[in-house]
Amino acid sequence: MHSRREFLKRASAAGVGALTVSAITPSLSPLAAGESRSVVIGSGNGLAAVAKAMEMIRDGADALDAVVAGVNIVEDDPNDMTVGYGGFPNEDGVVELDAAVMHGPTHRAGAVASLRNIKNPSKVAKVVMERSDHVLLVGEGALRFARVHGFKEEDLLTDKARAEWLKWKENLSTHDDWLPAHTPETKDIGSVYEAYVRSTGTIHCSARDLKGNISCVTTTSGLAYKIPGRVGDSPIIGAGLYCDNEVGSAGSTGRGEANLVNCSSVMIVEFMRQGKTPEQACLDACKRIVDHNVMRRLKKDDGRPDFNVSFYAMNKRGELGSAALYSGAMFTFHDGATAQRKECAYLFKR
Ligand code: GLY
Repeated sequence: MHSRREFLKRASAAGVGALTVSAITPSLSPLAAGESRSVVIGSGNGLAAVAKAMEMIRDGADALDAVVAGVNIVEDDPNDMTVGYGGFPNEDGVVELDAAVMHGPTHRAGAVASLRNIKNPSKVAKVVMERSDHVLLVGEGALRFARVHGFKEEDLLTDKARAEWLKWKENLSTHDDWLPAHTPETKDIGSVYEAYVRSTGTIHCSARDLKGNISCVTTTSGLAYKIPGRVGDSPIIGAGLYCDNEVGSAGSTGRGEANLVNCSSVMIVEFMRQGKTPEQACLDACKRIVDHNVMRRLKKDDGRPDFNVSFYAMNKRGELGSAALYSGAMFTFHDGATAQRKECAYLFKR
């Protein structure tokens, strides 16, 4: 019932010459004119999350309740070392979590950053939205807010994450985030993202519910072994996630700094507002990141970024798309029939 179509085309982006763009359309049956559907899209680690979210949507849940319940499964899972409990710690060995939610029908958002000791930051973010006049709380203030709302504190560092952190600490080389003074031409410093020890995994999930409302969530333990207090894109509305109930929703995983300086998620939603498909909007955001990536230390010898970023998007009708800078990235979705995992479209073949 699903069709899979691939095409190749030539494109160009400043600084890297002609690129091969390979786009793979989501394996969903096309919508007829005027038709729409309830769907859920997530990052590659989101199979259980999209399944849970769709189960709740079928029962009539609001899209935001559904996606938060979905990502809670991954936040609770010690084996996903990029999110919640068991996530990679900062350079001091302390787990600091970032998360944000955005609710399409009321165009509200809530977020927490550098939150310690609470394993479900996405739930706290939702309470920030519902029970405060603010959008973003950080650090000690976020923890105190969570405490007074009854969230239980616990040690989030598992033995497995502690062992990985120790390995990194005992083998420190260039794989940290402290940089000497440098120029745009400086290379071979701060080489972090290709190193086996660093991770920018995260979970994003967007959904359209039975009423046609759209919401989204992004939650993460952030960059492994980050400088304490480092905040990535995940809790920043417009960077790591964004939705407009009349247009669609978008979110991201990967190098958060690239999304922070490009406001990537709001850019994707605005591209969709202009009429681009979700996949094309994601690919165009990838190209924008490449165009803006002028620092030599963040480029490989071929001029391409030495990091990856992946995007996930859906439009108001429930059409989906996903793209990454490099091949091999995965996304998940639920079309109402099954939860599936597919490769994202991409700019560059690895
Ligand atoms: N995208 C997750 C992070 O950079 O923290």
